[in-house]
Amino acid sequence: MKLLKNILCIAAVISSNLGHAQENQKMNQFINDLMSKMTVEEKIGQLNLVTAGEATTGSVVSTDVESKIKAGNIGGIFSMTTPSKIRKAQELAVNNSRLKIPIIFGMDVIHGYKTIFPIPLGLAATWDMPLIQKTARVAAIEASADGLNWTFSPMVDISRDARWGRISEGSGEDTYLSSRIAREMVIGYQGDDLSKNNTLMACVKHFALYGASEAGRDYHTTDMSLHRMYNEYLPPYKAALDAGAMSIMTSFNDINGIPATANHWLLTDLLRDDWKFNGLVVTDYTAVNELIDHGLGDLQKVSELSLKAGVDMDMVGEGFLTTLKKSLDEGKVTLEEIDRACRYVLEAKYRLGLFDDPFKYCSDERAKNEILTPEHLKLAREAAGKSFVLLKNDNQTLPLKKQGTVAVIGPLANTGANMPGTWSVSADLANTMSLVDGMKSALGNKVKIVTHLGSNLTDDAALQERSTMFGRTIPRDDRDPQQIIDEAINTAKDADVIIAALGESSEMSGESSSRTDLNIPESQKRLLQALLKTGKPVVLVLFAGRPLTLTWENENVPAILNVWFGGTETGKAVADVLFGDVNPSGKLPATFPQNVGQLPIYYSQKNTGRPLAKDAWFQKFRSNYLDVSNEPLYPFGYGLSYTNFTYSNLKLDKNSITKADSLKISVAVKNNGNYDGEEVVQLYLQDLVGSQTRPIKELKGFQKVFIEKGKSKDIVFTISEEDLKFYNQQLEFISEPGKFKVFIGTNSRDVQEAEFDLID
Ligand code: BGC
Repeated sequence: MKLLKNILCIAAVISSNLGHAQENQKMNQFINDLMSKMTVEEKIGQLNLVTAGEATTGSVVSTDVESKIKAGNIGGIFSMTTPSKIRKAQELAVNNSRLKIPIIFGMDVIHGYKTIFPIPLGLAATWDMPLIQKTARVAAIEASADGLNWTFSPMVDISRDARWGRISEGSGEDTYLSSRIAREMVIGYQGDDLSKNNTLMACVKHFALYGASEAGRDYHTTDMSLHRMYNEYLPPYKAALDAGAMSIMTSFNDINGIPATANHWLLTDLLRDDWKFNGLVVTDYTAVNELIDHGLGDLQKVSELSLKAGVDMDMVGEGFLTTLKKSLDEGKVTLEEIDRACRYVLEAKYRLGLFDDPFKYCSDERAKNEILTPEHLKLAREAAGKSFVLLKNDNQTLPLKKQGTVAVIGPLANTGANMPGTWSVSADLANTMSLVDGMKSALGNKVKIVTHLGSNLTDDAALQERSTMFGRTIPRDDRDPQQIIDEAINTAKDADVIIAALGESSEMSGESSSRTDLNIPESQKRLLQALLKTGKPVVLVLFAGRPLTLTWENENVPAILNVWFGGTETGKAVADVLFGDVNPSGKLPATFPQNVGQLPIYYSQKNTGRPLAKDAWFQKFRSNYLDVSNEPLYPFGYGLSYTNFTYSNLKLDKNSITKADSLKISVAVKNNGNYDGEEVVQLYLQDLVGSQTRPIKELKGFQKVFIEKGKSKDIVFTISEEDLKFYNQQLEFISEPGKFKVFIGTNSRDVQEAEFDLID
């Protein structure tokens, strides 16, 4: 029976491989035929990606788009939306250009299209893989219904430095968690068939190591050992490609002396030769041109370098369009190199089915019926509620009772435009409910809500302007700050509880939004102090696109709910959690430091030769600081619930395994509190002795489980040699026999541990 099953299985694999081979052959024939008719100029035209000019992240905007389409000088357009506009542009291409090659249409669909989900860092905090996949699926349905077929997502850059504004766009600090999420997002976008009209081609970004920009300053240099790169930073990109992502975006940053966009080792040796990637390589926005400022030469030279390194498509800067023909004539690039790039662009279009039907994504009917549906909004509300992380809850301040008067005070209380969070370019800001309106809509007339601005986002008007760009406004009141606070306190005087809606505005994180001070701005802190002085219970509902430094708040505020930016349904989801309809289950995907001086900070650090003794916070000549302990404020994986989970009975089914074996590790998790709830059970490993130094803990598994109050569940993990492997100094992916520790717990700090051996 088993043999028969195996034979059937092998036969299925062979037949699917044959099917793929046949499809590839068909595609190759089609593209060979097409390319045999193309002039060099037309081939170079395919490498040109322009923006429709609606959403830009640089100073350059594409011009003369219409005449360029007709001339065959455009391969793709991004940030153009709606079936009618896209149909018009596509008609120009297929009716007016010589070879009628359709255009590919892209967009930054990062955490939802019109139905906006939490920012990616928030989605990561759900640790809920099926949910994350569903959000990407919905994003693909909506965006493709509006004419698009390509998204510049997932962003999988690991970041351990919260100063970097773009930490908000990724899944945080951890290699394993980010890799798992990368996979789910790609599957969600691309579905099971890229040629269906409700899927999008995914674009993994930013390749590579963008999240390790020095000092957390955006676009800054990255300099990293191969050892760290392979073990910690590269796996999420690889995971996304292994899940089938058909395109990848080069990053802006310099990597060990060669910027990513001109880096042959990265884009060809690693990506094509080692990883066997056969999809499209596109640059980031004007990244080819920026090689000039990196100091690699003039536009002709940098375009040549970039093409030769392995770039196929040039975003916005038109360096390829304007210089490659000259470089070909001068013998600086070869026709094979141009052909290679052109082929990858055409293959992407072929896989999307655009040659069969260039208008397959242009359905007014779909645009009308499949965007912002009640079902999508329901998912957005669920995702938001699950992304919130309860950081503190003294004396069960939360959940609140649905009665009496609640004062919602603070600069984030009445701004719908800030709820979607950064990189939600297609969000309908005018129609997004503010926190207060969302809460009112969720609570009906059970609770009376009063509200006040309370303080400006920051006292510094110029900083507030920089932090509220792209229509993400927050009202500003330029009266004496104390007068505003007094008014707010007066508004709250009859309230039973105060919700302080404070933190960052949405554009305080994201691209080009690095910060050196991660405290809640002074203006808001003064407000918070005044609110606490009223003696009423105060709940801090904290908006943040990154880990903030909350040492003071942690000491002084009884309850803190970190809500990131929750998307379209933020307000309702906050009400769900504050009033106990949803029990919070989010866990931090990035460490929250005590202060900025601890950055970069991450749990999976090395032991060093002079580790601090357990429970000591300072020892002379040990690895620590004079003025603050090594501990974070909140560790990776941390997050409270309204209930209590206790862990016991950690058991291994053997004390040692061979490379062929697997090890079962189980733990009993009991819900000891008064609420049903979800818990993320986390498993970490440590390789104790080896040929090179290894992290003190690495996440290698997790399970999100629902446990009813009073009930207990046995959670079982299976570990095999694959989980024990790492890249050694020769960059071989190997395991080394010896002792390992396994840790299981509710976060990366509070764990139970056991040991086992890997034997030869
Ligand atoms: C960002 C990318 C984005 C691109 C296109 C760039 O500035 O770095 O993440 O996909 O713009 O909008």
